[in-house]
Amino acid sequence: MKQEIDKKHRILVLGASGFIGEAIYRELCSYFNTYGTYRTDNYSFDKNQHYFQYNVLEDDIFEILEIVKPTVIVSALRGNFSAQVIAHAHICEYVIANNAKLLFLSSANVFDAYSKFPSYELDKTLSHSMYGHFKIKIENMLLRMPKKHIAIIRLPMVFGVQSPRIKEIKAFLKEGLPIEVFPNLVMNVTTETKLTQQIHYIINRNKSGVFHLGSSDLVHHDDFIKEVIETLGATKPILKNVYTTNEERYLAVLAKENKLPKHLQLESDAVLKELEV
Ligand SMILES: NC(=O)c1ccc[n+]([C@@H]2O[C@H](COP(=O)([O-])OP(=O)(O)OC[C@H]3O[C@@H](n4cnc5c(N)ncnc54)[C@H](OP(=O)(O)O)[C@@H]3O)[C@@H](O)[C@H]2O)c1
Repeated sequence: MKQEIDKKHRILVLGASGFIGEAIYRELCSYFNTYGTYRTDNYSFDKNQHYFQYNVLEDDIFEILEIVKPTVIVSALRGNFSAQVIAHAHICEYVIANNAKLLFLSSANVFDAYSKFPSYELDKTLSHSMYGHFKIKIENMLLRMPKKHIAIIRLPMVFGVQSPRIKEIKAFLKEGLPIEVFPNLVMNVTTETKLTQQIHYIINRNKSGVFHLGSSDLVHHDDFIKEVIETLGATKPILKNVYTTNEERYLAVLAKENKLPKHLQLESDAVLKELEV
């Protein structure tokens, strides 16, 4: 039986042709009136009336916002940083004027200058990378808005059968190429399946603020990737240890202040279980 579409929301997913954006679109589209953007020419998106071609460097996001009139916008974009900052400023204006909401996918990298501890929702952000700086810039723009209009979703590495990371590991195994691992990196992880359920919940329950959506446990990058490789059934992988620092370095976003219910939390072995099936 076809699910009845909830008229409460019109959702626009920016970057809905990407790994995470497409998974979010698929999770939401049978429940809400859902639209998405893609950048690269693609026949199936072109035919789909719910998909709009959008290049952050060339197009005005207002045009799509005016057509779709979303009540919720999920930003899962990549692309030119300064163009993205301008686009998000426009989205913020739209969100305020139309009493809408913006869910922004951010990253654990907003804390990449702090290497000694994992980070929590209210910790001050600080980054040494271009990527982290850019995410902080957009986060700060959102943090100046009334809280009910925003959700900042900070993510660690996201894994899934379709994730570029897993596809790359499989390809390298097949070619007998070395897979890079970072023995000093302590991190948490998540799966695209859990993430899309969490986003569905945040929309349904109208939750807002800053969310740290990673596993509740921490793993060493090298150990974890070895387990991933084992789960994929490979026995003799070639690994290349990469040491960026002499000491352990944390890149982990843990939840304390804004936790989701138990069934929406996860542990790192959920990634391995997902890769098994
Ligand atoms: N994957 C992770 O582990 C991870 C971790 C932390 C945070 N994040 C964040 O999650 C978001 C989604 O990441 P992802 O891994 O799903 O990325 P992805 O697979 O590379 O998808 C990126 C999306 O952005 C679109 N895009 C790229 N350049 C664009 C441009 N110039 N103009 C308009 N659209 C453009 C792509 O369109 P086309 O494919 O059609 O070109 C695609 O839909 C990003 O904001 C990322 O920072 C991801």
